[in-house]
Amino acid sequence: MIKIPPFVQSLKPYKAGLSIEQLAREKNLERIVKLASAENPLGPSPKAQAAIANAISGLHRYPDPSSYDLVHAIAKKYGVQPNHIICGHGADALLSYIVSAFTSEQNDIITSEGTFIGIYVATRKMGRNLVRVPMKNYEFDLDGILDAITDKTAMIYVANPNNPTGTLIKKQDFEAFMEQVPDHIMVILDEAYTAYATGNPDYPNGVTYDYDNMVVTRTFSKAYGLAGLRIGFAVGPDHVIEALYKVKLPFEPNNLAQVAAIAALDDEEFLQQTIDLNRKSLAMLYQCFEDNHLSYIRSSTNFILVIMDSEAEALEFASLCLDNGLIVRHVDTFGIPNGIRINSGTLDETRFAVDVISRVVHSMKRTSKTIVN
Ligand SMILES: Cc1ncc(COP(=O)(O)O)c(C=O)c1O
Repeated sequence: MIKIPPFVQSLKPYKAGLSIEQLAREKNLERIVKLASAENPLGPSPKAQAAIANAISGLHRYPDPSSYDLVHAIAKKYGVQPNHIICGHGADALLSYIVSAFTSEQNDIITSEGTFIGIYVATRKMGRNLVRVPMKNYEFDLDGILDAITDKTAMIYVANPNNPTGTLIKKQDFEAFMEQVPDHIMVILDEAYTAYATGNPDYPNGVTYDYDNMVVTRTFSKAYGLAGLRIGFAVGPDHVIEALYKVKLPFEPNNLAQVAAIAALDDEEFLQQTIDLNRKSLAMLYQCFEDNHLSYIRSSTNFILVIMDSEAEALEFASLCLDNGLIVRHVDTFGIPNGIRINSGTLDETRFAVDVISRVVHSMKRTSKTIVN
């Protein structure tokens, strides 16, 4: 009989947000809009689509394990040395590699409650002990994280901006935090939503630092619209990147992902359209939440966290939205059982969402209202 380690037995398979196809199979709806996975409503970057079409005839070849061309394109774009960059099968895969390369089963990894579920999965599947520090008003409590450091701590994970709260850690707070983290502890700074925050002068742009104990992760899944291709990259000191090359699967990212990412990096027009649309869509959603007395957190990303009074109310809200063709994300597994995450859409999708949300809230006859901000 095969023995499965207890930490693997206690895991649950990842439950992604419901897909449009799944909902269509379950319910007979005229229209379905999905604003549940923080994807780009404009689709993939057109330049990336063209690059993919061109590269298909080369699919009989294995990918370049060093992603040479992409690494050099990233290096040029962000002013980073090529040997400080590694590309992988999405930021998610890179998080797993970072955990496996720099921690052991005897170590603790500290993060916050109410942050990206991928880090919970990456640590638990390797039997690492995850310490989750409570949030402070839906933000990372950096002092609380520093207080939680022990002899066993090997790593700290910070997402900036954070998923699912959409909140941002300011430059001066982040720098003060880094000054206090002992230099034998690796800090992961996850910047999946960086494109939506870079316009903010308070935003600490992770790739501009050269801390010896920090690695920054980024993804092409969000603002570049390439979630289905699975591609991301990490930036860190050369010895950190070298270690990551030892644990990464050799032939990732795949050929199409590499060429698409190079083209996407060059697609400034698409990026700007994405950011402009996001701003407009979020403004419509804020207005909708205000009109319907829903509490929410101001976002530095492409989604907004709505805070319901209870988990039961969040479940009811999500379920009624589904009945009306709107897929939103209940973020209980992220550690916020009364939270609902809704991302920006096209203007038409957002109008649909506003209409559904208004009808749903009306039908719920909510009695009390939480005020968060
Ligand atoms: C904070 C954060 N990090 C990483 C990821 C994963 O990105 P990828 O699609 O590149 O695996 C996500 C995706 O939702 C995210 O929200």
